[in-house]
Amino acid sequence: MKIGIAKERRPYEARVAASPDTVKKFVSMGLEVAIESGAGLTAAYTDAAYEAAGAKIVKTAKDALGSADIVLKVRKPIGPGAEVEKEADEIALMKSGATLISLMEPYKDRALIDALAAKKITTFALELVPRITRAQSMDVLSSQANLAGYKAVLDACNEFGRAFPMMMTAAGTVPPARVLVMGAGVAGLQAIATAKRLGAVVSATDVRPAAKEQVESLGGTFVAVEDEEFKEAETAGGYAKEMSDAYKKKQAELIAETLKKQDVVICTALIPGRPAPVLVSEDMVKTMKPGSVIVDLAVEQGGNSPLSEFGKVVKKHGVSIVGHANVPSRIAVDASALYAKNVLNFLTPLYDAEAKSLKINLEDEIVKGSLITRDGEVVHPSVLAVEASKSAAKPAAKPAAKPKAPRKPAAKSAAKPKAAAATAAEKPAQASDKEGDT
Ligand code: NAI
Repeated sequence: MKIGIAKERRPYEARVAASPDTVKKFVSMGLEVAIESGAGLTAAYTDAAYEAAGAKIVKTAKDALGSADIVLKVRKPIGPGAEVEKEADEIALMKSGATLISLMEPYKDRALIDALAAKKITTFALELVPRITRAQSMDVLSSQANLAGYKAVLDACNEFGRAFPMMMTAAGTVPPARVLVMGAGVAGLQAIATAKRLGAVVSATDVRPAAKEQVESLGGTFVAVEDEEFKEAETAGGYAKEMSDAYKKKQAELIAETLKKQDVVICTALIPGRPAPVLVSEDMVKTMKPGSVIVDLAVEQGGNSPLSEFGKVVKKHGVSIVGHANVPSRIAVDASALYAKNVLNFLTPLYDAEAKSLKINLEDEIVKGSLITRDGEVVHPSVLAVEASKSAAKPAAKPAAKPKAPRKPAAKSAAKPKAAAATAAEKPAQASDKEGDT
């Protein structure tokens, strides 16, 4: 079987889906690997390194994708229409019946998913891999968010006109920077650890009670309104729930007081399937010290601050607000290496070396959780459920297209639409339509 890897062509994307290390593994498993020339350069992988690992370097995306049985990508393929200016329709380049493994932003662009189904591509959306123990080594959300949390602190350092650690010099003492991390999930915890290593005084806030211990174990101070609602604020899947207006008001008051004393704020708060919560209002920014910095990692989901702008660093009320797009891609070498490893770990159990084919066990929890198209159909219940709820919200428009019947394994879950929708909400569906997601 042939694996094909083309250069990533979406804006703000410097990562690549395979590293020379993973290519070597694929080759040792008996797979052929074709890589478009230059596909790894933005992640510091040369054609020569891939070649030495056993890959065949090909000239164009068409050469890489056209005969591939398995296509590995970081970002969802470019589809029909002028989706990404001047770029070829990658779905058209792929052969019918191929298998695609990629980040897919599966709740955002149904037309693209329909185009993959129509081409009879078997598509796995890596962000939907369930966060079970067996799948930890395939967890792209964690591998990329972890690096984004680290990079966010470095981006803050870059904009900050002062030092992070305390320094006692003959010319006087430089006080340590005070850093507040909002949202202590994977990215937030790494941001705390990084800011601590740099010598900052770090505090953090989250609505999940479990985060308190994690923040404290990294040497941070936990800042939250710890009332009854807070104690119940975690879903069964370990994600944050949307909080009540009363809680949000109390939390905002506490944050407003805390913010006045901060030099740097790293925003990472997200609620799967919803726009990012607004935690740092314009009035709050006005009370911050001049020269302070906010890094808004949530900018692609609308931002934790309404002042942050996607893909830009702006200065407002004397505060630098950093809204870089696709932060994992800003640390593309490590992000690619870890992503590629996640992909290898995902593909390995699917590949039957003796039969030289993919064995897709539809009863497997990981397959069931991440398979979104197969045999010409969209098969993932929560992708179907999101589309159904969108159509239900706009009854006045032209009649909704008849939903395609989910295939067998999905049918069970589809029989429970609420559960399916809940699964969708448990996952980081991308709420904004902007480019550049992880
Ligand atoms: P995420 O990216 O969905 O959200 C980031 C953080 O923002 C979360 O901690 C969330 O509680 C917080 N947040 C949401 N609304 C907030 C608000 N109003 N104020 C302050 N903070 C707010 O979350 P991520 O990083 O994907 O992790 C979610 C959970 O999944 C965590 O409990 C994490 O430990 C767990 N996890 C489990 C894994 C596993 O293999 N079992 C792997 C990775 C994460």
